[in-house]
Amino acid sequence: MSKTKTKFVCAECGYESPTWLGKCPSCGAWNTLEEVKVLPKNAKRDSRGMSADMEIFTLNGAVTSESRRILTGISEFDRVLGGGLMPGSIVLVGGDPGIGKSTLVMQASTRVNSEVLYVSGEESVNQINIRAKRLGVLAENVKLFAETDFERILSAIDKVKPKVVIIDSIQTVYDPNYENAPGTVTQVREVTARLMQLSKTTGIVSIIIGHVTKDGFIAGPKILEHIVDTVLQFEGEKNHAYRILRAQKNRFGNTNEIGVFEMGETGLKEVLNPSKIFLDQRETETPGSVITASLEGTRAVLLEVQALATPTNYGNPQRVSTGFDYRRLSILLAVLEKRAKLRVGTHNVFLNIAGGLKIVEPAIDLAVCVAVASSLFNKAVDGEAVFIGEVGLGGEVRTVSQIEKRIAEAQKLGFTKIFLPNGNMKSLKGKKVENVIPVKNINDVFNGLF
Ligand code: TYD
Ligand code: MG
Repeated sequence: MSKTKTKFVCAECGYESPTWLGKCPSCGAWNTLEEVKVLPKNAKRDSRGMSADMEIFTLNGAVTSESRRILTGISEFDRVLGGGLMPGSIVLVGGDPGIGKSTLVMQASTRVNSEVLYVSGEESVNQINIRAKRLGVLAENVKLFAETDFERILSAIDKVKPKVVIIDSIQTVYDPNYENAPGTVTQVREVTARLMQLSKTTGIVSIIIGHVTKDGFIAGPKILEHIVDTVLQFEGEKNHAYRILRAQKNRFGNTNEIGVFEMGETGLKEVLNPSKIFLDQRETETPGSVITASLEGTRAVLLEVQALATPTNYGNPQRVSTGFDYRRLSILLAVLEKRAKLRVGTHNVFLNIAGGLKIVEPAIDLAVCVAVASSLFNKAVDGEAVFIGEVGLGGEVRTVSQIEKRIAEAQKLGFTKIFLPNGNMKSLKGKKVENVIPVKNINDVFNGLF
């Protein structure tokens, strides 16, 4: 009989060592090596070797699955996925406990047009039924199974033959071939790897729900993210009703896409017009508050940029930025100092993107500059104005992509003064666009406003 051997695997980077080490030699993390039992050779495992039924394909553009995406029927969810669930793919939905992951996935599963197996290791079948009844989402296509033993889950999949299997949550499921407790790196990784194999060979979509640990990692951290095709993060403040679904990784879609939901009495509702909610609590007469139009994936969203400039009484001025790149803010402040002669060097500057979004595109530069100037002058900007444009080191306002989408969104919400880069006017030639004010330089903008 061959003996069971052990090895040690780093939870962060997957480095393998024959002995335990305090510090991972590969990624430098401390206390991340975990003991893993290596199954003896004669244990029953799938052979990974060559076999007669192996198929090898040609890179000829022949696509079999794209047209067969499975729609969840929740358009915000489908859009973030890149147009529905890709057959054979494995999707991880992560987020803090209690944020609404089970609710989201449950609501989506009832709208899927084929058989779904919902495996819950967290709630009993009764609990799930009570909630579904209250949400009014009872559905014949969803089969429930309260189980944590992965071998038994595989048997259930074999019996039900679903198109989609949901594991809620990955932290509760264990592979009985391993002695490690559920939720440990070994279990999370093994179960996910076996699900992956199942999905790739049968075309079943696996949706895995995972709680995020307090460090912001999905438990079994990086390793899980590498294995799955898509990582969706469900975020929001528990005390607020709004939730944002964001793609962190997506092999089958755009990662900039976001879905916005509202949690209410009857579960999650889609928010089809997110600009409205992001502008919800704006006070128009406040200096430092400026509206811009940013592209989030394929959609333009209006946002409020807030700046607060206060005199520095001692030492270096502070710069604090939430939702906007800190270095980018520093550059823009230098441009304001040098090109617009604003005295930012003697002021602390605090910047915030209201609504909790993180913006990376430079098209909101102009709004950031105007917000800082507005706070410095202590003068509110026109509540009807939207500012769009990248700002260069010379203080010039540079063109941005997809200007028409941004203008359309601003007009839809009733804004009547749309400041935009002069360079973008070329692409608008011949089109009837009202209320646009082309600008070449930040000084053009400031002279008109302050
Ligand atoms: P849940 O989906 O169980 O969260 P997760 O699976 O991410 O842990 O949602 C739990 C929270 O959502 C709970 O605090 C109550 C709230 N909630 C509502 O406000 N309305 C509802 O209709 C439902 C189902 C949940
Ligand atoms: Mg849950």
